[in-house]
Amino acid sequence: MAVSIGQQDTERGVERATLLAGIRECEVLLSLLTERIDAEALRAGPHLRGVANMAVGYNNVDLATATALGIPVSNTPGVLTDTTADLTWALLLAVSRRIPEAEHYLRAGRYAIWGPDLFLGADLSPGGSGVRKTLGIIGYGRIGRAVARRARGFDMRVLACSLERADLAGEDDVAWAELDTLLAESDFVTLHAPLTPATRHIIDERALRLMKPGAFLVNVARGELVHEPALVRALQEHWIAGAALDVYEHEPALAPGLAECPNAVLVPHIGSASTDTRDHMAVLAARNALAHLRGQPAPAAVNPEVYDGEPYRSRLGVA
Ligand code: GLV
Repeated sequence: MAVSIGQQDTERGVERATLLAGIRECEVLLSLLTERIDAEALRAGPHLRGVANMAVGYNNVDLATATALGIPVSNTPGVLTDTTADLTWALLLAVSRRIPEAEHYLRAGRYAIWGPDLFLGADLSPGGSGVRKTLGIIGYGRIGRAVARRARGFDMRVLACSLERADLAGEDDVAWAELDTLLAESDFVTLHAPLTPATRHIIDERALRLMKPGAFLVNVARGELVHEPALVRALQEHWIAGAALDVYEHEPALAPGLAECPNAVLVPHIGSASTDTRDHMAVLAARNALAHLRGQPAPAAVNPEVYDGEPYRSRLGVA
């Protein structure tokens, strides 16, 4: 049965009560990252055959409960890799070259005369110094690797770390590093790890104090990877040079003081927001949803082990 739970209201999202009432009726839920599909929501759906989350991240879904209840969960990997890597570079350039700050200055009519020290920033490339900069990538999956490929164009040294060590064969310009070494040696640190209990607050006060005073932090992954009040202090007290964020710990709210930091570039979770990529995400989410509905393995299931279990079969009503 197809049930329309609600058009997303751009201000508030789907009301919780509306979501729960809709889940009670539906067989497949096509959710966005703004919907909290927790144990209460999953248990509300006696007919639920699957959750198709239109995002690569699925920390909004209680995966353990879904798996225990025999509910397959799917996501939209791959199609947004390049778009998100591109935004990472847009943010790296914006924060290091102070582009939003300079633009506001210009639009405010304050540009009276050019001067040699107007909006001095930092180079990503060796620049006049001839010294290669170091990019530290935390979370070396599809998106982390796409960010690393783009670093070649800036002649950067790349350090990578992940919870699971990746195979770096064929990536001679990328070196594996422990987290603390990566933080201490990088001129730019960029986050591409999924949000899990192990990665929550991976960037906290301790981590920020390990970074170089001239370093920049970029987060296009999940806000909760960063302890945002500690980051605000780091920006205010110049423990690091700047940060560019696409995601926030308590999204859409910002930690007090963050919006006032001139050394922060802040955008509203637009990592995969290109017209093409959002089309491809929607199509993949729809394919996943149809497979859930038909009782077939979804193209991008994140808990495929459910398909072999009794709870899934009994949900589908098959012996
Ligand atoms: C966006 O944040 C996504 O996970 O796709």
